[in-house]
Amino acid sequence: MSDKVAKLELDGKTYDLPVLKPTLGPDVLDIRKLYAEADVFTFDPGFTSTAACESAITYIDGDVGELLYRGYPIEQLAEKSTHLEVCYLLLYGELPTAAQLADFTQRVTKHTMVHEQMHYFFRGFRRDAHPMATMVGVVGAMAAFYHDSTDINDPWQREVAAIRMIAKLPTIAAMAYKYSVGQPFVYPKNALSYAGNFLQMCFAVPAEEYVVNPILEKAMDRIMMLHADHEQNASTSTVRLAGSSGANPFACIAAGIACLWGPAHGGANQACLEMLKEIGTVDRIPEYIAKAKDKSSGFRLMGFGHRVYKNFDPRAKVMKESADEVLGLLGIENNPLLQVAKELERIALEDDYFVSKKLYPNVDFYSGIILEAMGFPTSMFTPIFAISRTVGWISQWKEMIADKNQKIGRPRQLYIGPQKRDYVDLRHR
Ligand code: ACO
Repeated sequence: MSDKVAKLELDGKTYDLPVLKPTLGPDVLDIRKLYAEADVFTFDPGFTSTAACESAITYIDGDVGELLYRGYPIEQLAEKSTHLEVCYLLLYGELPTAAQLADFTQRVTKHTMVHEQMHYFFRGFRRDAHPMATMVGVVGAMAAFYHDSTDINDPWQREVAAIRMIAKLPTIAAMAYKYSVGQPFVYPKNALSYAGNFLQMCFAVPAEEYVVNPILEKAMDRIMMLHADHEQNASTSTVRLAGSSGANPFACIAAGIACLWGPAHGGANQACLEMLKEIGTVDRIPEYIAKAKDKSSGFRLMGFGHRVYKNFDPRAKVMKESADEVLGLLGIENNPLLQVAKELERIALEDDYFVSKKLYPNVDFYSGIILEAMGFPTSMFTPIFAISRTVGWISQWKEMIADKNQKIGRPRQLYIGPQKRDYVDLRHR
């Protein structure tokens, strides 16, 4: 709280709105008492100007293109850290000591297997089901398998649920993939790293030995880190809203996965790669740029634009470097999709339409190219995002449950429907 107060004048009366001071970012007007005192609501569809909670986890400065996890810049973490260390940081607030990291790694690793009966659950899905559809169902169903970690009022159960989800989401996503391609499920191998284990569960088959490629392992770990949290985005807000009613953590994360699926959010990486394939060659780019500028076409450049970043998305920079590195090391730097992506970026960034609207490539612009080079079909891109974001969702959910001021989320509305009217009997309509 600061000494500053904003004044609102309405119908001849003045109302004081306290100004709250964040540690970083713009001041926040406290309107909590506005309805009680002034009998008015505020109108903010899409929450473009509304802070719905206090949070100490992630900070974004969209104007300068900065992303901090618990104060640490994403570029430093992407270069020096690992996904599991970032998970610890997001969950507990500080970087771990060597002993803490070893203990955390051990706890996550020991929870990577799923209940054996879950295998039958998978078999109920059609083989051609999108892996996100399978994940929404199976993650929600975890509440039916792990009853001993669904009491949200018990801090220990909350902790166990967090570890279980961070540990089991890669296994569930890999099983969804294996099921969709008709191959047997591959069990986790605890000697492998978090990212290496996920690659193993996706690409190993019982008929031959699978060796994790360290280049791909590192790239996968980095993709996970870059997607680990992003403050109050749509899926995280969904998790918080679901959790605000007291729903169990597995149901909340399943809600987050459902929200992430949309092409305006996590589904953009799949949509972006499909768009790059559709463009196909560099000479067709102007046609697509023109389409994106024409509102009546309904077409948007996928992987471009962001609600918060109005400069550049710092994750996209790291991802572009990663794409160059991975494709170079795999000897496929002439990948036509990468050429189309780079040229599309170059042309769009010189175009008045994109410049004036501050539309820059976002994290998903390059991630799909890396994932495809690794051998993933496009349908697995969003599930990989879901695995990565699980720690963010669960950290935000834990923060919310522990917050003494937490209330059920219940937005108001600007009603534009009919006035009160009397029922008309069917024969008189
Ligand atoms: N291509 C063409 N025009 C665009 C694009 C785009 N990708 N994105 C925004 N615009 C235009 C809009 O038409 C609008 O123009 P107007 O002011 O003339 O009406 C203006 O830019 C502002 O766009 P909004 O939709 O109001 O911005 P908003 O903040 O609501 O949307 C969003 C952000 C959803 C990410 C949007 O940029 C978009 O749809 N991008 C493509 C999908 C995508 O890549 N999503 C991934 C987001 S990152 C993530 O989830 C990890």
